[in-house]
Amino acid sequence: MKRTLLSFTLAGAMVLSSSPFSSVIAAPIDKTPISYTITANNGNSDAAHDNKVVKRVEAQRAIEHVRYLSETIGPRPGGLEAEKQAADYVANTLKGYGYEIEYQYFPVADQLIADVSFADGSSWQMGAAANGKVSDVPVNSEVIYVEDGTKASDFPENTAGKVVLVKQASSTANYRLQVENAINAGAEGVILHSVGGSRGNYGSTFNPNLTKAVDIPVFGAAYIQGEWLKERLAKETVTIGLTAKRHSNLQSVNVIGTKKAKSKNGDGKEVLLSAHMDSVVGAPGANDNASGVGLMLELARVFKGYNTDKDLKFIAFGSEERGLLGAKHYVEQLTQAERANIEVVFNPDMVATKYEAATNLYAMTVDGSTNLATNATVAAGARLGNSDILPGKFGSSDHVPFHNAGIPAALFIWMGIDSWDPLVYHIEKVYHTPQDTIADNISAERMQSALEIIGAGVFDVVRKDVPGLKR
Ligand code: BES
Ligand code: ZN
Repeated sequence: MKRTLLSFTLAGAMVLSSSPFSSVIAAPIDKTPISYTITANNGNSDAAHDNKVVKRVEAQRAIEHVRYLSETIGPRPGGLEAEKQAADYVANTLKGYGYEIEYQYFPVADQLIADVSFADGSSWQMGAAANGKVSDVPVNSEVIYVEDGTKASDFPENTAGKVVLVKQASSTANYRLQVENAINAGAEGVILHSVGGSRGNYGSTFNPNLTKAVDIPVFGAAYIQGEWLKERLAKETVTIGLTAKRHSNLQSVNVIGTKKAKSKNGDGKEVLLSAHMDSVVGAPGANDNASGVGLMLELARVFKGYNTDKDLKFIAFGSEERGLLGAKHYVEQLTQAERANIEVVFNPDMVATKYEAATNLYAMTVDGSTNLATNATVAAGARLGNSDILPGKFGSSDHVPFHNAGIPAALFIWMGIDSWDPLVYHIEKVYHTPQDTIADNISAERMQSALEIIGAGVFDVVRKDVPGLKR
């Protein structure tokens, strides 16, 4: 966290105009100065209402929520049991703070999930080919590693009866060839491991796409799972059990906790603080997005005793990774009047990475324009003397369905944007992989900064009926 010791005026100016990053945001960023009421200059706002939040939020408490979600539960694919466990955890935590809870269910499509189990009882989630063998009767075999695999001669004599681990060839045609060669050599199963995936990550689990049906399991492993398997193979003989299951008739869920306005002066408006609780297959999703849920729950704890002029809803969305489904469902089931009554949505998603190149906490809107969510947090950063927060333009998260319905919303995410090219952004390479863990990807400092900025921004908006930027 960068805490400037600059005077308020300078810190504010840095955030609004002279940051090395602000010039690179593609679309129009409204640079109109916001009028502040506070003159903080020591890295601490002297506004009592900021301090009510900033002095009380604790990154370690948020990280304990991240621990439960990413370690005790683990990967949480939308619609599956683990996502329901996450929903219960969020619901019980919010209930414990005295909030009213609602579960909102919605249907989601089938999900094919592979499971690779080891002799020590541990197991890994992977993707599976839909037209490979899909069965909960395990294929138990020894694993061999095969180099390349696009030629029949790459497979040793003893391939028959084994599970073949091979690096996924870069073209679909070639990885189909790898599978065909393995089958011809008598393999009982194939694990293709990804060597790089979306947004420059190390490689996620995936469902291999085969042209014709085969009668052995064909799994798609994350890059690191392949590396871990190879490490074990270098030491000993490894026997694994492969099963794959099609999960059908799935229901995903949103959890909604409500903090009712206390004041008679209120305008009856509602503010949403939302975070998706699901993860991609095989990924514990510590930063994406147990971090956002942890931040939301920690703010729910701190806000619980405070009176506000507006209703505040804490929402954990399901199935974001399956196409923003929870947020889409939420927006769809609202009446026009209910939509109009939502003043603003704050959506933290990936708010605690320790990736060095993710230098700033961006308040991202879908079209790059500023709104109450970006203004309130940028202003909070300025009052606090915290220059981490910058406005930006990005989609890809649950703020999108709200934006599409005309509701002001922003995504909060740590990333880096190259000053010479606004299209080059940096997010952690462990994104969407089994390496998205507390140990490898969570920074307490980044979490603390996000808690303070988003916490002070949200509180400033809900505590009274006059929007922060118009005071
Ligand atoms: N947290 C990510 C979104 C994200 C990633 C934003 C990197 C900015 C930079 C989110 O959980 C995600 O992965 N979203 C999906 C959405 C899709 C399924 C509609 C994505 O972008 O692939
Ligand atoms: Zn996410």
